[in-house]
Amino acid sequence: MDAIDLLKNRRSCRNFSDIPIDDDVLNDILEVGLNAASGGNTQPCTIIKIRDKDRKSKLKDLLGQNFIEKSDTVLVFLLDFYKQKRWCEINKAPYGRNRSFLEFIISLEDVMCVAQSIECACTLKGIGSVYLGTPNLRYEEIKELLELPELTIPVLAMCLGNVKGTLNSRKKLQKDAVIFDEKYKKLNDDEIERYYEEKYQNNNTYINDKNSYLIDELYNIASMVGGKDFADKVKANVEKNGYINPAQKLFGLHYNPIEMIGMNQWIWNFFKEQGFDFLDETFHINRLDVK
Ligand SMILES: Cc1cc2nc3c(=O)[nH]c(=O)nc-3n(C[C@H](O)[C@H](O)[C@H](O)COP(=O)(O)O)c2cc1C
Repeated sequence: MDAIDLLKNRRSCRNFSDIPIDDDVLNDILEVGLNAASGGNTQPCTIIKIRDKDRKSKLKDLLGQNFIEKSDTVLVFLLDFYKQKRWCEINKAPYGRNRSFLEFIISLEDVMCVAQSIECACTLKGIGSVYLGTPNLRYEEIKELLELPELTIPVLAMCLGNVKGTLNSRKKLQKDAVIFDEKYKKLNDDEIERYYEEKYQNNNTYINDKNSYLIDELYNIASMVGGKDFADKVKANVEKNGYINPAQKLFGLHYNPIEMIGMNQWIWNFFKEQGFDFLDETFHINRLDVK
């Protein structure tokens, strides 16, 4: 397979063999990350490379995904303003990136460029990899485990290792649902239904005695998000169909909006504690003239 075919066929790996990754291969892969595109070439990303068994085991306990321990290496990608700010202080330069929402967004994008370059390099080298978004749920503990200083945020992690067995491929949206020519194309409802149906076909959760509590769960979530009338419609829809559809399951139950929105406050608290200061206590944008 040439490089393009390898990338077109990439998939996440959660089943790792005991064979370690060769050091030279790992170094090559990491060097690809060093050369990733970077906004203004400012490189606000630090990678923590974890190969120690004990530390991987602690990460597994924190992040709750068993394959972490079986992987050869865990990479934790940090948005890191600490080094830059210190450099500015040493050199008597003003630094405000940690107080700018724009700089924060650009730097997050930067971290993703590094991570994705590494993910591609893994694919090209035949090394298995999988992202972990769960560090976002355990900021404080990750900070302690990895001794993170202020002005750093663990953005996401990635497990790497030699692949055991074959990798499952996951359905993706069709090209026409993702790539629009020249300008945004508002898909009509039929098109939207068709594209998502094609991706999530056979993903209905049929209601039975054991899982009928999910109707109440969905009802409560729907009423908090959209009010009683909306929740009644959601419930009627499930009862009429006899199943919870994939949209209800994915964005209602799995990525439960109440839990997701509920995390805003402590995420913001952690950012604030780490010195990211673009919103004040009442979520107003900080301005230089009122500081
Ligand atoms: C930002 C991000 C966070 C992710 N977090 C996790 C995770 O915590 N655990 C996991 O097993 N997979 C995680 N994944 C992998 C996705 O589940 C996977 O990419 C998706 O199901 C599509 O499958 P594929 O990568 O094989 O195409 C994450 C992927 C991304 C991009």
